[in-house]
Order: sequence, then structure tokens, then C-alpha cells
Amino acid sequence: MDIKEKVIIVDVSGRCNQLIAREVRNLNVYCMLFGDNASIEKILCEKPSGIIITGEGNADKLVSDIMSSGVKTLDIRNASDYKDVIKSFLYDELKLSGSWTMKAFSEYMIEELREKIGDKKVLCALSGGVDSAVCATLVHLAKPESLTCVFVDHGLMRKNEPQEVVEIFRDKLGMNLIHIDAEKRFLDKLKGVTDPEKKRKIIGEEFIRVFEEEAKKIGAVDFLVQGTIYPDIIESGIGSKGLVKSHHNVGGLPDVIDFNEILEPVKDLFKDEVRKVGLEIGLPEAQVNRQPFPGPGLGVRCIGELTKDKLDTLRDADAIFREEIKNAGWDTKIWQYFAVLTDMKSVGVRDEVRSYERTVALRAIHSIDAMSAEFVEIPYEVLRKTSSRITKEVKGINRVCYDITSKPPATIEWE
Ligand code: XMP
Repeated sequence: MDIKEKVIIVDVSGRCNQLIAREVRNLNVYCMLFGDNASIEKILCEKPSGIIITGEGNADKLVSDIMSSGVKTLDIRNASDYKDVIKSFLYDELKLSGSWTMKAFSEYMIEELREKIGDKKVLCALSGGVDSAVCATLVHLAKPESLTCVFVDHGLMRKNEPQEVVEIFRDKLGMNLIHIDAEKRFLDKLKGVTDPEKKRKIIGEEFIRVFEEEAKKIGAVDFLVQGTIYPDIIESGIGSKGLVKSHHNVGGLPDVIDFNEILEPVKDLFKDEVRKVGLEIGLPEAQVNRQPFPGPGLGVRCIGELTKDKLDTLRDADAIFREEIKNAGWDTKIWQYFAVLTDMKSVGVRDEVRSYERTVALRAIHSIDAMSAEFVEIPYEVLRKTSSRITKEVKGINRVCYDITSKPPATIEWE
């Protein structure tokens, strides 16, 4: 993207802390984040309007190179209160105009995609997640007739989600969407498998196989769309101590598709910016503000062997929990919340008769980056109502627990 006003942030601690970068973006200025292994040549190549040095560290050579480069620089190393200082640097000292808005970005990106795609063919894997949804919609707005979207429905999505994907993208937006109902295929492959890592692996591999078969039918395409976002680039290690985060997302697609080039329309954006673009280009709020959802879906929230019966039970319990959280107005306050179907059965009484049924666990956490998380203190009345509804309305559940563990030592998901 051709951006005239650009600020470079150099985190000399090598950790590539994203806070300052997000602060600058919120002030409507485009910025890029570099670690302590950046060179002055690499920085100057970007022709920045200004440079901000942050982090607790020295990187003496790099800092002195920056200081003597002639580019206006703000040094906020070790500063705790930097908000006003940054604002004044951007607007008073650099005299920037603050033109980085998601409206401007959307218009620019649609135009750029239109030019780049021309009459060529584009393929996009739509997962229902916000990144791929925004990418697909940008391409659709640029060149609707060039785009084919493939949505592999592995049968591990939440209640009504597959129908919603089809409704939004095919019916409302008019996208050329291929919906592959692969539920049976996935469950057949997963039959008898209880080990969480094996489940994950099978789901990932099967996803690739289904997509590969579909891609063969479509034939060669010119572009494959990927929903890479800026934190993916930062976290894949641009600093010397780049975050070590295992890649959760289904990889391997590029290997099975015959294409020439990858299109990554939102690779310069932070997650909150992707969401803003989504709203800007007309995606429904519920789609845009969707909470994080693991690629293997309910496969990692249904403990033990996956069966259609257990998954349907989990879907019903999860839908009730989500509905009650929303009714109580807590849906916008919680980072991620969901139900887990444990593999444990316990004794209960139903209609004065002994029952022996499964336990559902509810999980709700606050987090900033999913690396650590704290359980949320949901009001007891919300939990009480959820528990009473789940045990009444969902067959096979006689006990509901609330998970009060933070991460670490627990993880957010149970598997
Ligand atoms: P954990 O359980 O590792 O989860 O604390 C951290 C965050 O990542 C999500 N998650 C996944 N996302 N594929 C994904 O795309 C996965 O296999 C996966 N496993 C966990 C989880 O929902 C949480 O937001």
C-alpha cells in the first residue's frame, strides 16, 4: 500500500510489543513495527516520516544509527506514560494529517485488488472467521465475478453457524460460494479417536484433503487469498526475541492448490482494524465481532471420542450459554466464552429417578493476546440460569460446572 505518512516503531527489547503500534494506529497514523535486529538501511528504505524508539533495552548501535539518520525521532524507552507524548510527536512535531482510517483503507484496497486481479481467477477458503470473511468480501467488492469461495463445513461448528455463513456470504452478499458438507467424512475419520493431538491432526489433514478435491474441480487459479494479519507477521519473529507462538491455523493449503500468487489484503492490519474494515464494507456486526474460535472447532471442546450425538449435545448447551451471556449484556465484556462437553458421567436425579449423565463445563476468560487469560467473574444469577436451562433443555446433561482456572496453568481450551 502506498502510504505517504508512515512511522516506524523500533522495539529495542526485541519483543515487538504491539501496544505502541496500536496506539499510533488509533491516532490514525500508519506505522510498522521493527525489532532490535532491524538495520538502519531497512528502516530508511520505508521512507518514514518519523521513528519511535521503545522498549527496555539498549541496542546502542541501532539507536545511534537512528539518531544520526536525520529522521525525526521520539525516544520513549522506559517511559510509562507515553500517550500524550506520542500524540504531540505525530501531530505537532511531524505535522501529520492523520489520514489512516479504515474507510480510506477499504476504498484503497478494493481499488488495488480490482487493478491487480483484472480478469484473473481468485480462490478463497472461507472459514467463518473474521479475517477470511473480510478478505473474501474485499475481493468480492473488487471483482465479484473473479472470486470463488470454498467453505469446508467439518461438522464441528457451533449451532446454526454453517447456515449463517451461507446466508451472509451467498444469499446476502451474493458471493460465489461452494459449501461442502463434510460432516460425515470428518466424523468417520475421527471414529474411536480420543487423543486430543490426534484429533487435531486428523481434522487439519482432512480439511486439506477435502479442499484439495474441490480445488481439483475448480482447476488452476491465479490467486489464493490468505487472511494473514499484521500480528501473524510480527509473531513469526521480526524481533530477536520474537514471540514463540505455535501456529494454530490450518496450514498446508498452498501446497494442494494450483495457483500463482498469494493475495493478503489485510496483512498490514491489526485485528481491531480488520474488524473495523469488516463493518466499513457491510459485514454484519455479529460476524465481525465474533469471538476467537479454534480451527478444529468443537473437536477440541468435546472431550474424548467425537460423535454426532455428543457434538449436538454440546452445540445445544453452548448455544444456551451464549444466549444467556448475551441476554445479561456480558457478551461484549468477555473475550471468549464457551461450553465444553466433558467425558465424565455422574449420578443425579431426574423426575425422582436416578440418572447417570454427562457434565458440561462452562468457560469464560479475559485475555489480550491469548497467551495468558483470567477466568471471568460472571454473576451467579447468569450461571444459575444457564445451568438450570442446560439441565432442563439438553438431553443427557445432569451437571454443569464453571471453570475457575486461569491460563497458566490451564489453557483456554480444554484440549
Ligand atoms: P489455548 O487453549 O492454547 O488457546 O490457551 C489460545 C487461543 O487459541 C485458540 N485455539 C486455537 N485456534 N486452532 C485455532 O485456530 C487451534 O487448534 C486452536 N487451539 C486453541 C483458543 O480458542 C484461544 O483463543
